[in-house]
Amino acid sequence: MGLSQGEIELSILPEEERKEIPSPDNLGFGIHFTDHMFVMDYEEGRGWHSPRIMPYGDFSLDPAAVCLHYGQAIFEGLKAYRGGDGRVRLFRAMENMKRLNRSAYRMCMPSVDEDFLLNAIKELVRIEERWVPANKGTSLYIRPFMIATEAFLGVRPAKEYRLSVILSPVGAYYSEGFNPVKIYVTDKYVRAARGGVGEAKTAGNYAASLMAGEEAKAKGFTQVLWLDAQERRYVEEVGTMNIFFAFEDEVVTPSLSGSILPGITRDSVLRLGRLWGLNMVERPITIEEVLDGAETGSLKECFGTGTAAVISPVGSLHYKGRDYVINGGETGPLAKKFFDEITGLQYGEIEDSLGWVEVL
Ligand SMILES: Cc1ncc(COP(=O)(O)O)c(C=O)c1O
Repeated sequence: MGLSQGEIELSILPEEERKEIPSPDNLGFGIHFTDHMFVMDYEEGRGWHSPRIMPYGDFSLDPAAVCLHYGQAIFEGLKAYRGGDGRVRLFRAMENMKRLNRSAYRMCMPSVDEDFLLNAIKELVRIEERWVPANKGTSLYIRPFMIATEAFLGVRPAKEYRLSVILSPVGAYYSEGFNPVKIYVTDKYVRAARGGVGEAKTAGNYAASLMAGEEAKAKGFTQVLWLDAQERRYVEEVGTMNIFFAFEDEVVTPSLSGSILPGITRDSVLRLGRLWGLNMVERPITIEEVLDGAETGSLKECFGTGTAAVISPVGSLHYKGRDYVINGGETGPLAKKFFDEITGLQYGEIEDSLGWVEVL
């Protein structure tokens, strides 16, 4: 805390040592990394110090570093978008800073100055501007993360941390069209229980989800839909997305129970839907209600929300050996409308009357 922007030390690579920019047609996700990264360190009693933008490269960590043993590790995920006008934009980035601090609090890690970190991210993105791809749907993924670095083998909050931000140009999620996904509803595994760390964006939640994800993929499904840990009845969220169900008279998403991630795209969809006069409802919803709706046709649409895909229409849900098709397996008009509005804002095609977009 208490750091000022002028204190960021810059060590920038000479042009001839910078990497070649990968082709925008074949970026994939999280494969390529830019030339520079942001790093700062924390020590108890001293606070955050030594903020620097430096060449992208390895960290040196003591093998006893707490993050390697007891999982004090959190992260965020947001993007920088290049519009048709060539300008680079961030979308609701302060929300990611706030969520990082909420995750830090839950994991007994130090908070960061949100304005300072956001400004550091902007400075890093400006330095790496040539890495922001231009094709619609592509973006520069921004990954802030914090790890416990103290060398200590004991279960208590660490006294030393590192915060870093790395950048990765990523391809269009929908390179082959806005296609509905097939989702596997698991009643065998759970992601997080109430009272646990499900609402924090912490590394262990993703490790906990791997087995179910792999089993679903082996069966031909894209992602897993999680049910609540206690009764395995209430819908929680999908792999890396929150979930919405559009019925005739309401659009429902599970309430933030403490075990699901409070998605920023989820919040954007709730706010936009309310502005459009839709009945957007946050409430507990059982899997039976959803499947009944799919069978009777009262469930009109289902879609996931997240930074990666923005909106991901769900064509079918598989539960206890049966497939339940939604909207004939097609993308519905509401999913399309939310997708068009949010991507329109992100790429500067729609005027930002909500103050969600910042041009760099
Ligand atoms: C578990 C989980 N749920 C939901 C989301 C969607 O959150 P957001 O809309 O902030 O990307 C994510 C992605 O960050 C996630 O990892």
